[in-house]
Amino acid sequence: MKFENEIKKRKTFAIISHPDAGKTTLTEKFLLFGGAIQTAGAVKSNKIKKHATSDFMEIERQRGISVATSVMSFEYKGTLINLLDTPGHKDFAEDTYRTLTAVDSVVLVVDGVKGVEEQTRRLMEVCRMRDTPVIVFINKMDRDGKNPFDLIDEIENELKISLHPLSWPINSGKDFKGVYNLYDKSLLLFYPNQKCTDSDSVEIDDLSDPALDRLVGGKDAAQLREDASLIDGVYGHFENPAYLRGQKAPVFFGSAINNFGVKELLDTFIRISPNPQGRDTTESRVEALDDKFSGFIFKIHANLDPKHRDRIAFLRVCSGRFERNKFYHHVRLDKDVRFSNPYSFLARDKDVIDEAYAGDVVGLFDTGNFKIGDTLTEGGDFYFTGIPSFSPEIFKDVVNKDPMKTKQLEKGLNQLTDEGVAQLFTQHNGNRKIIGCVGDLQFEVIQYRLLKEYGASVQFNSLPFYKACWLTAENKAKLDEFTRFKTGNTVVDKDGHVVYLAQSEWFLNTEIANNPDIKFHFSSEIHK
Ligand code: G4P
Repeated sequence: MKFENEIKKRKTFAIISHPDAGKTTLTEKFLLFGGAIQTAGAVKSNKIKKHATSDFMEIERQRGISVATSVMSFEYKGTLINLLDTPGHKDFAEDTYRTLTAVDSVVLVVDGVKGVEEQTRRLMEVCRMRDTPVIVFINKMDRDGKNPFDLIDEIENELKISLHPLSWPINSGKDFKGVYNLYDKSLLLFYPNQKCTDSDSVEIDDLSDPALDRLVGGKDAAQLREDASLIDGVYGHFENPAYLRGQKAPVFFGSAINNFGVKELLDTFIRISPNPQGRDTTESRVEALDDKFSGFIFKIHANLDPKHRDRIAFLRVCSGRFERNKFYHHVRLDKDVRFSNPYSFLARDKDVIDEAYAGDVVGLFDTGNFKIGDTLTEGGDFYFTGIPSFSPEIFKDVVNKDPMKTKQLEKGLNQLTDEGVAQLFTQHNGNRKIIGCVGDLQFEVIQYRLLKEYGASVQFNSLPFYKACWLTAENKAKLDEFTRFKTGNTVVDKDGHVVYLAQSEWFLNTEIANNPDIKFHFSSEIHK
C-alpha cells in the first residue's frame, strides 16, 4: 500500500442531471470554491439548445473539443477532487453512462420545480446497476417548487432509491427563507439577490431555541420543528455505510445560481463521499491500494479540427502509480506502450504530468490504438469489467454514396464506433452495415465527420427497429438456428456478439417467450 496517502486525498465524481436542472451552474460554483476558476460564467454550457449539427460542432469547437472541460480537477480543503463532465444533451447519453464507470460517486441535481425528469430516471438506472453512491441536490428552491415531502416521495418512487434528507428547506419561491442543516444543526438563511456569506449560517443545535422564531418568524419556525421531528421519526440517524453501498442517498436543498447551499453540499461531499474504489476485472478484483498500476479507457475524444487529427483517450487510473514514459501493457493489443505527454487536468490548464494515482484521469494522445474498455496494466493480462453498451434507440442503414471511397468509409466507421460515438452492427448475410445511436443528432455528427475526416460520403436510411438485444445460449446450435430463421433481424456487433434487432416490444416479447433456450440481454458488457 505504497500510495495510500495519495489515494486518501482523492475523490472522483460526476454531476448528473436532466438538461436545465442546473448541472453547469453547480459545476461552476464548485470550481469557484476550488479556486479553479475566478469568475462566474467561465464554464461554458455544453447544452445544445437547437437540435442542429452545426450547433453541436460550434459548441465543440468553442469548448476546445471539450477536452479541457471533460475533467476538472481542483483542490478543496486538502482534498483533490476530479470532477468528470458529462454531456448535457440526451443524444449523447451513452457517453454519460460510460463516464459513470470512471467515477466513484455522483451528485444528482433535480429541479425542485419540475421534479424527476426522463434523463434523471435513466441516469439513476445506471447508478443503481453499479451501486454508485449518490448525493441528491434539489435545486432552484428560489422558485415556487413542489412540497419537499412530495418531492422526496416522487424521487424515491420514480428513481427507486431511498433518500435521507440532510438539509430541509423553509418554504420555496418568494417565501424561501433558507435551509436547516439537519446534520450539522445549523440554519443557513437565504436573502434574495444577495451573495451568501458565512455569517448567514447560524448554529441552532436545538430547534426549540427561540432564536429560530426571531430569525424565520413564528409560523415558519413551527413548521420547521414539525418537519424536522417528522424526518427524525421516519429517517432516524444518517448511516454513511448505507450511502457508500449505494442504498441511501442523502438529500440537500439549495439554489445553485444563488450559490446557496452549495458550500454545505461540497463540505458534506468531501466528508462522506468515497475515496477511489477498486474495480472488478476478468480475473480478481483490483483494489485502489494495490501497488501495481492498472487503468482503463472510458472515453475517446476526437479533435474536430481537421489540422489536428489526433484523439485523446481518457484513462481512469484504478490502482498503483501511472508514470510518464514508462512502458505499460496494452492488454487487447498484447503490446507494451508508453506515453511521453500524458495530460492531467488540474485547475484551468491541461498539463503534462509525470505521475497519477488511483482515481485520477489521464489524457493520452492516441493515433488509433485505443477503443473504449481497453485496459492498461503493469504486467497483468486482464480487462476491467462493468463497462456496458446499452441498446441504441435509432437504427439506420449506411448507404455508401461514393463507391470509390469504400475503404475510407470502412475505416471511418470503425474508428468512430471505437470512440463510442455509435454502435456498428453488420448483418449476418452480407456486408450490410447498420448504425445504432441514442439520438438523431449523432447521425448528423457521424455523417459530417465521415465526410470531413475520411472523405466518405454516406446517406442513412431509417430502419424500423426500436431495440437491440444481445443474445447468448448454452446450446450454440439453438442460437445458430435462431439466426438462420431471423436473418432480417439478427446482426453481429463489433466484438462478434450476436444481436437481435426488435421492431417493437410485442415482437421482442414474443421472441423471448418462443425461445426459452436463448437469453436476451439488454446491455452488453465489453468485457465479461
Ligand atoms: P444544465 O447544465 O443542467 O443544463 O443547467 P444550467 O446550469 O445551464 O441551468 C439551466 C437554467 O437554470 C439556466 O438558466 C440557469 O441560470 C438556471 N438555474 C440554475 N440554477 C438555478 C437556481 O438555483 N435557481 C433558478 N431560478 N435558476 C437556476 P437559463 O435561462 O437557461 O440560462 P442562462 O441564460 O441563465 O445561462
